[in-house]
Amino acid sequence: MITNRDRANAVMSATEQSGNLYGEGLGMIASENIISPLVRKAVASDLHGRYAEGMPYKRYYQGCGGFDTIEELGIEMGKKVFSAPFINIQSTSGTVSNIAALKALAKPGDKITAISTADGGHISHARMGAVGLRDLDLHTYPWNEERMEPDIDAAAELIREVKPKIALFGQSVFLFPTPLKELAAAAKEVGATVMYDGAHVLGLIAGGEFQNPLKEGVDVMTGSSHKTFPGPQGGFIISSSEDETFQRRLNSAVFPGTCSSYHLHHVAGKVVALAEFLEYGQSYAQDIVRNARAFGAAMCAEGFDVLAESRGFTASHQILTRHGEIDSGAGKKAAHLLEQAGIVTNMNMLPGDTRALSPSGLRLGVQEMTRVGMGVDEMEQIATLYSRVLLKGEDPNSVREDVRELKSNHQVIGYCFNDKNESGYPF
Ligand SMILES: Cc1ncc(COP(=O)(O)O)c(C=O)c1O
Repeated sequence: MITNRDRANAVMSATEQSGNLYGEGLGMIASENIISPLVRKAVASDLHGRYAEGMPYKRYYQGCGGFDTIEELGIEMGKKVFSAPFINIQSTSGTVSNIAALKALAKPGDKITAISTADGGHISHARMGAVGLRDLDLHTYPWNEERMEPDIDAAAELIREVKPKIALFGQSVFLFPTPLKELAAAAKEVGATVMYDGAHVLGLIAGGEFQNPLKEGVDVMTGSSHKTFPGPQGGFIISSSEDETFQRRLNSAVFPGTCSSYHLHHVAGKVVALAEFLEYGQSYAQDIVRNARAFGAAMCAEGFDVLAESRGFTASHQILTRHGEIDSGAGKKAAHLLEQAGIVTNMNMLPGDTRALSPSGLRLGVQEMTRVGMGVDEMEQIATLYSRVLLKGEDPNSVREDVRELKSNHQVIGYCFNDKNESGYPF
């Protein structure tokens, strides 16, 4: 008979199995990362069971003295990391940050302009996600497929015509900076609040390797704390506004607007990650972008169809590869074969694709491999491994041995306070 204890054991061994896949393999999903040993300690601390509703030193519960210090330090360092006068570090994810920001900035029925999911916008920017939850009237920007960014003139015209309450930018498929100079200017002309979802590129922005939206007309930037910003799962809301009433509106949209407990253990982890970022973030961001460009070039040299070759493949942590005809499902097939070889990726819709479950492409990110010390040489080796599986038709199980060998030399997590040279993959 299977007991509940057996079930709990099964959960623990599946957890270990998942950890082993990443420990022995290559994690290349662009939205993921690993956490540092100190962040891991914070996330596993007693704080996981505690509450601290309110803001530092203004709580509804007792017992928050330690956490007041943590959150105060986090706000102070967060403002430094993002060179901004305001940050909220409470929101529990990028999506929750978006829900809270949309709640603070618009009323049901207001208009919003955003990037469509087909062009790489996130589901929270769509009717099926946070935009729909707030019941906003969505208008999507015309898109320039060749440059992988909004069509500047047509998008500016749309903004002038629609006169949205919020002009939202940023996306999940995010190769190049948004042309904010022109588009934020158009939004300001019609009195819109400019919002930018930097979930994917937050670490690159903070590290000075991508555009700085807050210096280019953006009022509110949201994001996840666990993609190129290498913290635990969570969210941030950052603003260029000095207006305290506006800042209070953003804070209260998180608590009590969207969260009661905002996962104090994750907040503590985010604060440790902010301290580590102040120390190592710039070089981490530089190395990520250098590796992504090198990986794009190496994949192209192997014979893959890498998008945006004329723009140097990427200016972020991502590259996009097409593996067959539009809507053919070739991306899904490629992702399955790669997983058999121990390379973890995700299928992704590329320009022209209309079916999210059978797209032609892959979206690949190098931020996790960079974090365990891989550089340009390793990017070239990885491109060869992809080629052996996907172009040369080698048995993925035999390639897996070489994946394991490559990864065995890259276990120690860098760009963090890691005095004991601990592995990023404890399971
Ligand atoms: C642009 C964008 N915004 C928001 C999110 C959601 O972030 P989270 O998973 O932290 O809710 C994602 C997720 O990948 C994203 O790509």
